Amino acid sequence: MSQSKFSHLVCAECNKEYKGNILQNVCTDPTCQGSLLAWYDLKGSTVTREDIKNRPFTMWRYGEFLPVLNPANIVTLGEGGTPLLKADRLGKAFGFSELYIKDEGGNSTGSFKARGMSAAISKARELGITKVAIPTAGNAGVALAAYGAKADIEVVVYMPIETPEQHKQECRFYGAKVIEIGGNIGDCGKLVAELCQKEGYFNISTLKEPYRLEGKKTMGYELAEQFNWELPDVILYPTGGGTGLIGFWKAFEELEALGWIGKKRPRIVAVQSTNCDGVVSAFHSNSLTVDAIDRGFTVANGLRVPKPYADKLVLRILHDYKGTAISINDEDILEALSEISRYEGLFPAPEGASLWAAAKQLKAQNIISDTDKVVLINTGNGYKYADNIWV
Ligand SMILES: Cc1ncc(COP(=O)(O)O)c(C=O)c1O
Ligand SMILES: [Zn+2]
Repeated sequence: MSQSKFSHLVCAECNKEYKGNILQNVCTDPTCQGSLLAWYDLKGSTVTREDIKNRPFTMWRYGEFLPVLNPANIVTLGEGGTPLLKADRLGKAFGFSELYIKDEGGNSTGSFKARGMSAAISKARELGITKVAIPTAGNAGVALAAYGAKADIEVVVYMPIETPEQHKQECRFYGAKVIEIGGNIGDCGKLVAELCQKEGYFNISTLKEPYRLEGKKTMGYELAEQFNWELPDVILYPTGGGTGLIGFWKAFEELEALGWIGKKRPRIVAVQSTNCDGVVSAFHSNSLTVDAIDRGFTVANGLRVPKPYADKLVLRILHDYKGTAISINDEDILEALSEISRYEGLFPAPEGASLWAAAKQLKAQNIISDTDKVVLINTGNGYKYADNIWV
C-alpha cells in the first residue's frame, strides 16, 4: 500500500479548511459548528482498481483513501470485507428481480460501527489521544469499547437505560465504563459534552469527530467494487445520525474523482422508525434542517436519534441523489425481520430489517420498480437485540 492521500479537513457547511494533523471536533466558527470532512489529494493518486483487488478484503485495502498516515497506528479487528448477498428467494417471493443485502452483521462486534471505530481509534492513536467518550444507542458504544481495548485507550460510554442489556454487558467486558441514562441519545450527548469539557476526554459523537465517517464510507467503496464499479439503482439505509448515508455519498464522490466510477448515482432512501422520524418529515416538507422528534421506544434502538448533528448534509444528499425518506413502525420491522430470516437464512438487526419493510412499501407506491437493482444495507447482527425482538 502506498502513502495515505489524506491532506486536510473541510467544514461541510462553510468550507473552512482545517489542518488534518491536529485534534479537531467540529468547525470552530461558533455560528457554523459544521461537521468536518476529510479531504484527500485524489488527483495525485496512482493506485488502480487492479491494485486494490489483489489486497486482503478488509476496509484497510482502501488505505490510501483513509486518514491514517502511519500504518503502524492502524487498530484493526478485521472489519469490512462483508458479503453482498443476492436475496434471491425474498426477491422472487415479493417481485424484486434484483434484490441484494450488504450484510454488515459479520463485522467485529456485530455491526458496521466497527468500520467507523477502527478509523476513529486509529486516528486517535495517531494524534496521541488516550481517553475518549461517546453517547450511543448501543452498537457504536460496543465498537468503541472493543477498539479502545485493542488500542489501550480509555473509553466511557453513555447509553439510554432501555438499550438491550447485551450491548451494555459487552462494553463492560471490553473494559469500558458504562453510564446508563434515563433519556435518549441526545441527552447522553449533552452529558458527554460536559465530561469532555471538564475532564479532557475526546468526544467521539457521530459527526462531531471527523474520522468515524471515513471508516463508514468504505461500505460505499466496497459496494462499488462488488458491483464491478457500476452502482445499483437504489440503496436503502437505516438512518439514525446519518453517518453511513453520508459515507456512501462521500465514497461515490471520491470514486468519481478517482475515475473509478462514472456519473451514475443510486437513489438513496433514508429509512427511520415512526417513533423517531425527523429526517423523514424534514425531507417531505422540503425543510433544510431537522426538528427533533422522539416519540419513545423503538425495537430498532439505533434509529432513535431525535436530530442528526449533520442534518443539513443528510437532507442535501437525499435531494441531490433523487432519493426519498420513509418511516416504518415496529410491527412492520419485526415482520420484515422474520421474512428476511425465513427466506434468506440471515438474522438482521431490526435497523436492517426496517429496510425490507420500506422496500416493499416503496414498491407498492411504484417508487421502486421490479427491475431496479436494490440494495439493503443490513447494518448489524440481530443477536444483540434479544431484549427487543423476542416475541
Ligand atoms: C444497527 C444500526 N443501524 C443503523 C444505525 C444508524 O446509523 P447512522 O448513524 O449511520 O445513521 C445504528 C446506530 O446506532 C445502528 O446501530
Ligand atoms: Zn463551518
